[in-house]
Amino acid sequence: MSVTDEIKQRTDIVEVIGQHTALAKAGRTFRGLCPFHSEKTPSFFVYPEQQSWHCFGACNTGGDVFSFVMKKEGIDFGEALKLLGERTGVAVHSKYEPGVGKKEKEQLERLYQANLAAAQYYHNLLLNSPAAEKVRSYLAGRGLSSKSITDFQLGFSPDGWEFLKKYLAERGYQESELLTAGLIIEADDKRTHDRFRNRLMFPILDAKGRVTGFGGRVLDDSLPKYLNSPQTPAFDKSSSLYGIHLAQPAIRKQEMAIIVEGYMDVIIAHQYGFSNVVAPMGTAITDRQVGTIKKLSRNMVLALDSDAAGEEAMLRGIVYENTLDAEVKVIILPGGKDPDEVIKEDKSNWQKLVESAMPVVDYTFNMVTSKLDLSTARDKAAAVDKLLPVVAGITNIVRRDHYLRRLAELVNTSYAHLETVLSRSKPDRKARETKQEATSRALRPVLSNPLEEYCLALLLKHPQLKARCRELPPEYFQSSENREIFISWQNAEDPALIKNALDVNIHEHLDSLLGRELPYGNIEQKYSDTVLRLRERHLRGLEAKRAAVFSLEAESGGASAALMKLQEQGMEVSVQLGEVFTQKSRKRFRLPKP
Ligand code: UTP
Ligand code: MN
Repeated sequence: MSVTDEIKQRTDIVEVIGQHTALAKAGRTFRGLCPFHSEKTPSFFVYPEQQSWHCFGACNTGGDVFSFVMKKEGIDFGEALKLLGERTGVAVHSKYEPGVGKKEKEQLERLYQANLAAAQYYHNLLLNSPAAEKVRSYLAGRGLSSKSITDFQLGFSPDGWEFLKKYLAERGYQESELLTAGLIIEADDKRTHDRFRNRLMFPILDAKGRVTGFGGRVLDDSLPKYLNSPQTPAFDKSSSLYGIHLAQPAIRKQEMAIIVEGYMDVIIAHQYGFSNVVAPMGTAITDRQVGTIKKLSRNMVLALDSDAAGEEAMLRGIVYENTLDAEVKVIILPGGKDPDEVIKEDKSNWQKLVESAMPVVDYTFNMVTSKLDLSTARDKAAAVDKLLPVVAGITNIVRRDHYLRRLAELVNTSYAHLETVLSRSKPDRKARETKQEATSRALRPVLSNPLEEYCLALLLKHPQLKARCRELPPEYFQSSENREIFISWQNAEDPALIKNALDVNIHEHLDSLLGRELPYGNIEQKYSDTVLRLRERHLRGLEAKRAAVFSLEAESGGASAALMKLQEQGMEVSVQLGEVFTQKSRKRFRLPKP
């Protein structure tokens, strides 16, 4: 069995997605708030039988477990494989296995070199250029020492279109390399220019000290305030932690990592001796970032500002805890201040905040109960409503038990009683499933996709079809490995070379497609038929999912706006399905089957 099939067989999509958003059973599906956009009514569905997901809200898209992880973590297919491989204990071949990806490895090395050269260029300008005087005084005004400027290699990107481009070209870097590194960008007229202009530059280094990308801050109030490097082979926003290369030893030694929000907060914290501080890149923390920290220490403290604190702690705290397999603590920053301000004002205040950091579940308990009067029956019920799901989300049994007892005490009911409610409201599937269920789960069938595979075999064998690949949107391929192969085929200049662009773990699958026997003749016609069948399947699938959601909504007396939107989506799909039928009958008319 191929690596991808093995991972699929051992993965339960409900479990994986359930770690990112709370899912409730609804008929044969599971439903929750979409983890990709914020919404009030849940429009995100997971289909255990098909091992797929779909968002009927703003995203209006879906896929399998790989595409979920890719989208959620902002990573590519190979990285998603690696992540799920680790989860399921399936050995995934490294993308850069010796011999296989030697070329890619060298290319990646060049990107790091180009980034390093850029960082040095910007840094030198910040220290020496007369044009950077305004930046130097800005930094002085924010209280940064010259040691901090050097430690973090801060820089200045000059106000012009081609300074860096020319500088690096003179040092032998190709334009294509600089584009890949995200240091220059291509305008509509195909001309290229520097991405970062007239900004204070923060080079971003990984744990190994390689420069992976940049954040650039404006010097006035214009927007965006920070411009970051795009996703590149060297830079992945969702796995980067600003300051990690400098914070690593301190996190180990103090056995604690503190997470703040901004670049400036990290630098000021380090300047004042708090070297165990890092920041994500302006987004919520991802599993991969927690994974990086976990290798250094199990103690993670989040510095949250008082506005966002409640929600963030409720929504994400427990998820982080489960990934970390340890308690997460929170610091609530006073009065809308950023950590850099708190630290500069009085270093000892920060020290006190750190020492009094509170476990995230305790914090959630306090937050919820502070708004309630627990002597009343109504508020007792409200406390259970809000907090029991939080407790249910804790995977560590000892800690879950601890908080279940605490909740029982708070509302003055028996532990046994709450436990019953808990098992009824959110059955712990593993504990309750029968032997038969367990067996069928272990042998979860891998859904093969004969139609997708036939289509790919056609394309791979007949490079002349390349001209028509635009007829086929990648979403028609439900299985991510097929989608990956299709996209590479679409992008490859020479279809014979697509193997180089594909993750090694799908090579076996690719080979089996290449080895298929296909009937001769009528290639163009066969391709048209296959596209049509894929389109029909895609639309029917959408329609079935939509109809199921619609009836659920209607049953539960759902919001009429939601119903309307679903109905509209349904009409759109019907129109497209109608077109498919017209094309099919036209074809039958012209080319009657023998
Ligand atoms: P903030 O807007 O809170 O900025 O964004 P800040 O870090 O406090 O910056 P200063 O103190 O005004 O200089 C917090 C973090 O979110 C990311 C950056 O990583 C920033 O440090 N961010 C913010 C972006 O990536 N892009 C933006 O446009 C804004
Ligand atoms: Mn700030």
